[in-house]
Amino acid sequence: MDTAFESETRAVFDRYQREQENNEHIFTRLVSLIDEEYFGFNPGGFAGLNVLDAGCGSNANASYAFLEKGAAKVTSLELGEEWMDCAARRLSKFGRKSELIGGSVLNLPFGDGSFDFVHCAGVLPHTANPRKGFDELARVTRPGGHLFITIIGTGNGIFYRCINHLRELYASDAQFRQAIDNLDGRTAKEALDWLLAVKSQNEPPFLKGEDGFFRSLFDDDLFVTLRDRFQAPTYHEFAFTEQQIRNWYAENGFIDIRRVSRYTKGFENLRRFLAPLYLHYDHPLARFWFGDGCIQMIGARN
Ligand SMILES: C[S@@+](CC[C@H](N)C(=O)[O-])C[C@H]1O[C@@H](n2cnc3c(N)ncnc32)[C@H](O)[C@@H]1O
Repeated sequence: MDTAFESETRAVFDRYQREQENNEHIFTRLVSLIDEEYFGFNPGGFAGLNVLDAGCGSNANASYAFLEKGAAKVTSLELGEEWMDCAARRLSKFGRKSELIGGSVLNLPFGDGSFDFVHCAGVLPHTANPRKGFDELARVTRPGGHLFITIIGTGNGIFYRCINHLRELYASDAQFRQAIDNLDGRTAKEALDWLLAVKSQNEPPFLKGEDGFFRSLFDDDLFVTLRDRFQAPTYHEFAFTEQQIRNWYAENGFIDIRRVSRYTKGFENLRRFLAPLYLHYDHPLARFWFGDGCIQMIGARN
């Protein structure tokens, strides 16, 4: 890895991506995110494709999904090499169709036009230069091939404003930092046990089953994804508008540029109540909460 910043980024993500790989429910939920319809492809549309999963993460969940969906070859790229044992636990069954490569999206070790489909989810906001990364991803997409990226958009959504504020607190307040670093299903359960015990000592339930419902809003999956928002060294949250990202595609010779969205199923925590906002990112409630939200975009190289 080129910089201390990249090593720190990798270490933060490695911790939680290994937890995701270890948890069958979370891993299965992540794999289910990849389906042809979401990308606007016909059923079976990944069969035979040569795919790059750039910034695949230690568990390479999307690489796994592309291979399950019949890709001819998936190259999984991530910073350094320490993650490969984790990815290989899932991918080794695909034999030579799966290749693991250490490298950076800022300097991809592939020739121009090497891939039919380039997938880069949640990676660019964590790099030192998202635009440079985008241009590299575009370069290795073959004419007629597709490039898919996700990036956090600009906007004044309440949620991202809170996260930004809390990231500052995480950097400056040792007590808050320790609470976040220790946040997992076990510590959350202890906190909930205490909270609900005090509540039941003082007041009967308002609704039947309310304590169980309240508990069901929190699980390891939620804490794993929340922690990275604080711990990752950089997060270009408010950096780019949807129009800017469209321009990046157009300037790199892409056509048929589309923002896509999906109903994210399988959350066993409070995010199941946010899933409608992920799907309808243009709804006023979604705008209020997430601003421009998570921009998921795909284009075809001309
Ligand atoms: C939010 S995670 C997303 C992982 C995976 N794409 C997924 O959807 O589960 C961001 C990933 O980007 C990786 N990353 C950050 N900077 C990178 C770079 N310059 N080159 C390649 N990967 C990078 C991190 O190590 C991390 O695994």
